Amino acid sequence: MKTLIINGSPRKNGDTVQLIRKLKEKIPGEVVEFVCYQSDIKGCVDCRYCWEHDGCCRKDGWQELEQVIQECDNLLIASPVYFFELPGKLLDIFSRVQSFWCARHYRKTELIPKEKKGGILLVGGGNGSMDRAVATGSWLLKDMNCTRIAPPVCCHGTDRVPAEQNPEMDGEISRLAEFFSQP
Ligand SMILES: Cc1cc2nc3c(=O)[nH]c(=O)nc-3n(C[C@H](O)[C@H](O)[C@H](O)COP(=O)(O)O)c2cc1C
Repeated sequence: MKTLIINGSPRKNGDTVQLIRKLKEKIPGEVVEFVCYQSDIKGCVDCRYCWEHDGCCRKDGWQELEQVIQECDNLLIASPVYFFELPGKLLDIFSRVQSFWCARHYRKTELIPKEKKGGILLVGGGNGSMDRAVATGSWLLKDMNCTRIAPPVCCHGTDRVPAEQNPEMDGEISRLAEFFSQP
């Protein structure tokens, strides 16, 4: 079993990382963590190459990441919310999944044939809604062929209590690990 964790936080020991650490203790198999803020993958520029060709014509770290997206069984977006959304850096990099969308809808070709399970793990300083970030994350996961998506794990109030000390998180993380571990 291979799990790809997309980490949307710039903080090396922040709330997202605290929960990723807990999850890694509970999921078997190989885990690959992609840290958006350590990547120089560029965003989609709507050049429309993928309207007619497989893949993306911008050659950078995306092709290597695309290979992991191809192979993995589970895909998790783990991130803080910024202005009720996923952070811009994550959205910029993952705008490149547009090449999968265009292949599927314009050319009826599936670039990511292997079906996957998906998950969304969000942290936020306050208590506001995370629905918008969940909706965006769900679209990205579907574009990467996640056909089953776990209920989102949302950790609020990190301004007051660090995510790793939130009493609800151990149970939530265990449920997510269980979802990924089942066939
Ligand atoms: C630019 C920016 C925007 C933010 N917007 C929100 C928000 O809309 N809602 C919220 O609950 N927290 C918001 N926060 C707080 C972070 O989500 C929170 O501190 C989070 O725990 C940070 O996670 P990290 O340590 O994994 O990076 C924002 C923080 C920053 C820096």
